[in-house]
Amino acid sequence: MANVIERGVNGAWDWFTARAPGFMPFYRKHMSEYYAPKNFNIWYIFGVLSIVVLVNQILTGIFLTMHFKPSAAEAFASVEYIMRDVEWGWLIRYMHSTGASLFFIVVYIHMFRGLMYGSYQKPRELVWILGMLIYLVLMAEAFLGYVLPWGQMSFWGAKVIISLFGAIPVIGNGLTEWIMGDYLPSDATLNRFFALHVIALPLVLLLLVVLHLGALHEVGSNNPDGVEIKKGPKGNRWSKLAPADGIPFHPYYTVKDSFYVCFFLIVAAFIIFFAPAFGGWFLEHDNFTEANRLVTPEHIKPVWYYTPYYAMLRVVPNKLGGVLVMFGAIAILFLVPWLDRARVRSYRYRGLMSKLLLAAFAVSFIWLGKIGAGPGTDPVETIVGRFLTAFYFLFFLTMPLWTSWDKTKPVPDRVTMHE
Ligand code: HEM
Repeated sequence: MANVIERGVNGAWDWFTARAPGFMPFYRKHMSEYYAPKNFNIWYIFGVLSIVVLVNQILTGIFLTMHFKPSAAEAFASVEYIMRDVEWGWLIRYMHSTGASLFFIVVYIHMFRGLMYGSYQKPRELVWILGMLIYLVLMAEAFLGYVLPWGQMSFWGAKVIISLFGAIPVIGNGLTEWIMGDYLPSDATLNRFFALHVIALPLVLLLLVVLHLGALHEVGSNNPDGVEIKKGPKGNRWSKLAPADGIPFHPYYTVKDSFYVCFFLIVAAFIIFFAPAFGGWFLEHDNFTEANRLVTPEHIKPVWYYTPYYAMLRVVPNKLGGVLVMFGAIAILFLVPWLDRARVRSYRYRGLMSKLLLAAFAVSFIWLGKIGAGPGTDPVETIVGRFLTAFYFLFFLTMPLWTSWDKTKPVPDRVTMHE
């Protein structure tokens, strides 16, 4: 019996590979013969976790779409219906809505890792640019999704953010109206946001992720030492031509990543089961009330992952100025590969000044996030916000200077395993 099954499986496999001859070379290139540096640390799991959360958003999104009604009259009630009456609907909904915040936590850590280890430096500029495009699309995708449940914050958040386009000279007002399809967020807005959120942007996102990984696998992964393993000695247990410091992605990293994925899923489950709204940070209290165009919420503010940029928008007194500063703050991140002039990649081998500045940057970004989440009425906080915004831009604009001035330590020839 076992023989018959084995012969059947082998036969089916031969049949398949004869008709898809590119499959095994593809698998080898990206999995079993993708030699990743052997010194990856915990920071390196956030790429894989980004894929996990992306898949979660897509799968739970499909099930939500089965019960959600994309119309201004029915959207809010259909979400309540999902939460109360659809079997396991509450879980699917929380996995999706809390999942959005988990996505941003994972992606922000993933980006910070890139900054720490200089992963954007030559030859990985394209990996970074594609990552930044993912980040942009992800922000748009989350914004569109937030409008769909048609709660108070969905409506007023959409109104504030779309009205920002009104600051553009000449075409501003027309553009705002064109995006909304009305003078206020309305049924037309909800319909088009639904179309973009469930199909257009997820497709773009998936395409960008494939390109991001394709670009990475062309040049190979960086690592915590920033040592280029392809330039080091050749030959390891598996191949004479492979980098000596590389190990096959499968099974070594697939097994290691699986462990961390399980750990992450346990933490995610705890949050989803016990604190899905996370004290109003992941799901704002105002969004549990249906949209009402006659009642403005006391404080209109976006979800935490936008608040650093929202703070920048608010602390600039002029509307157009604020919009330019906000978009400029995102745009400048695209330029990091060319702003960084350091001779070494990883912060492990950079000087104290670079380390302090990167730490200060992280603190000021989080601080801006806190300011953006507040009511914006405290004048002292506004002044602090202006300083932090100035620091944000100065950090990047002066990067060519301090990265070339700062002393660096000698980089070892081979990767180190001391962590
Ligand atoms: C849906 C979102 C994303 C997914 C699924 C994703 C996936 C991945 C994966 C699987 C890796 C390889 C494993 C690793 O190095 O951690 C990776 C590497 C990388 N990603 Fe992303 N990524 C995403 C967003 C971003 C963003 C927003 C950026 C930055 C702007 C970025 C920048 C990078 C860089 C620079 C690398 C190379 C890291 C290195 O070799 O040291 N990624 N990404």
